Amino acid sequence: MSLPSQFLIGAATSSHQVEGNNIYNDWWEWEQSRPDIGNSGRATDHWNKYKEDFALAKQLGHTAHRFSIEWSRIEPKPGAFNRKAIEHYREVLEELRRLNIKSFVTLHHFTNPVWLAKKGGWENGYAVDRFEKYVRYVAQHLGHLVDFWVTINEPMVYASQSYWRADWPPQKRTLRGMLRVIRNMAYGHMIAYRVLHSITPDTPVGLAKHLIAYLPEHRRQLDDQIMAGLEDWWFNHRFFSLTGNTHDFIGVNYYFTTKLRVKLFPPRFMKVPWEGAVSDINWPIRPEGLTHVLLHMKKYNLPIYITENGLADASDSKRSEFIRSHIKAVKKAMQQGVNVRGYLHWSLLDNFEWADGFKPRFGLIAVDYKTLERKIRPSAYVLKAFADSANI
Ligand code: BGC
Repeated sequence: MSLPSQFLIGAATSSHQVEGNNIYNDWWEWEQSRPDIGNSGRATDHWNKYKEDFALAKQLGHTAHRFSIEWSRIEPKPGAFNRKAIEHYREVLEELRRLNIKSFVTLHHFTNPVWLAKKGGWENGYAVDRFEKYVRYVAQHLGHLVDFWVTINEPMVYASQSYWRADWPPQKRTLRGMLRVIRNMAYGHMIAYRVLHSITPDTPVGLAKHLIAYLPEHRRQLDDQIMAGLEDWWFNHRFFSLTGNTHDFIGVNYYFTTKLRVKLFPPRFMKVPWEGAVSDINWPIRPEGLTHVLLHMKKYNLPIYITENGLADASDSKRSEFIRSHIKAVKKAMQQGVNVRGYLHWSLLDNFEWADGFKPRFGLIAVDYKTLERKIRPSAYVLKAFADSANI
């Protein structure tokens, strides 16, 4: 089966990871106290080099591109919207239009303005009100240039990394806090959905949901099955049940397949380690999990775009096969009736990988952080071949 024509192929980035100098957000502030991670600094300087980067994306046959708007640039102080920042993103979107590349615009990708973080961030319902105002402003000024809206990136990951695992700012470990963040982000998404539809009624709105394929270690063992089912319900489906029918499409970010085993004495459950290929940061490579999560999303009866999928692979020795096997997994789901309409690789460029700093290399395009020189990795041409085949 070949990819249908109109199937979108491209790559994704997020503001803080590539733009550089996002000095008004909570990550920037946090990085100053974490010399072990290093400062995101000028990152890839995509803020100034976006034209060069999009020209490369075009050369690589991309027909879609996902990026995020940095809230803290648009609204560095509450209510004080920055015209220059909006103007910049208008130029970014115009450049994508000029190149005939469809835009997926994310409105929240893990970072918050410092002033919002100081008020308790998403633990506080205030975040929902402020998010609504920011979304309205962006939609009023840029809406006519946007092809797809992605309200929030990976709300469950954000809530658990920042409020349960304490890995990301504000590094809290509070169950109540985490549940509040999830609830407020669900409100944030639903309100954004309404606002976006009132301003750009024809532009599809969705979110980017991190999905994990949960498998019981022993398929016939009831407790393993129950555990996998519970995890699946909580992590993959809970946010959709909170947000009801406020989705025009589903954005799937896929990285992991997790095998679960339950032990009764003493009672605990554990993740069973995988054998086989792993990425540079030891994430197992399991393309079949992508088919699995896509089949699980079929029940929502919505178009699906893969909004992220990729691996850290500095030597580019595994990325080509990774792309082939994951696109094959997408096709397999499509053959079983799943309505997948696009695939965006993570990432267009090497970038700042949050608490792991600059070490992991996720880019189709390598970045030399000293000279900021870009170099296309060979695997990018594997993705190009898929883009070309869908573009006939
Ligand atoms: C996030 C990206 C991140 C990628 C690789 C996703 O969960 O949305 O920001 O870089 O995973 O870790």
